[in-house]
Amino acid sequence: MEFEHLYLDIDDRGLGLITISRPDKLNALSHAAMDELEEALVLVDGDEAVRAVIITGAGEKSFVAGADIAQFEGLTATEGHRFALRGQAVFNRIEGLGKPVIAAVNGFALGGGCELALACHLRTASEQARFGQPEVNLGIIPGYGGTQRLPRIIGRGLAAEMILTGTAIGAQRAYEIGLVNRIFPLHSLIEDTKAFAAEITSGAPLALATALDTLTSSDLPLHEGLRYEATLFGQCCATEDFKEGVEAFLARRSPDFRAR
Ligand code: COA
Repeated sequence: MEFEHLYLDIDDRGLGLITISRPDKLNALSHAAMDELEEALVLVDGDEAVRAVIITGAGEKSFVAGADIAQFEGLTATEGHRFALRGQAVFNRIEGLGKPVIAAVNGFALGGGCELALACHLRTASEQARFGQPEVNLGIIPGYGGTQRLPRIIGRGLAAEMILTGTAIGAQRAYEIGLVNRIFPLHSLIEDTKAFAAEITSGAPLALATALDTLTSSDLPLHEGLRYEATLFGQCCATEDFKEGVEAFLARRSPDFRAR
């Protein structure tokens, strides 16, 4: 399928790579780019061969420099509300994909770009990457999930600092505060992120999907979360992959998971 604002590649290891590409606008997310991102997510979701997804930005300078500010002009309260809900719905789709999604942050991840990375399950970054929520400088607040996901990932104090100052942080700081899982050189960011993804996709697919489900439900009250975990643990025990995983371990061979 042809896209105008992104590329979608699926390699022979089942790794889907979505590259947001609006080079003259630092890959800012226009309405059209957001629609295409949703279409690409639907495609990778429905493709059984895709085991994990990587989202990155085209070029060396920017991952995604935010929502397209040119489209902010003249927004009414109702339109702004709808705008935020639309972005949240697409980013919720990332979080709920049921396959691991990794943001490979090559450069600027600002505003909606930072929120895009936050909606992914894991984040890798180049040494040049910069993360920030500068919305207050435009008279708004993060609207694509930043006020909710950032504190859940790095804690409320640090999230407050980023959101209230609007100041961007570099890759090393992002790593130190748990915003980023791995830092790789820019020239090998995608290959290194694919190797990271391959470490994950050796696990049983249904178990991975179930683990993602429990992790993204981790803001439940503890007793409810534990009950949910136990229910899903039981469901895993009913899969063929569970039987295969245990048998393979005991027979000292590699498991052959079939996602059943
Ligand atoms: N929306 C729309 N256009 C954007 C954009 C955005 N979020 N971010 C960058 N651009 C455009 C610029 O307008 C410019 O377009 P032009 O050449 O047609 O004028 C082009 O991308 C290059 O950006 P420029 O500002 O010239 O690059 P820079 O290296 O001087 O600065 C940034 C880079 C990222 C610091 C700066 O572009 C910036 O602050 N962007 C906005 C970030 C932001 O506030 N994001 C949150 C939005 S909610």
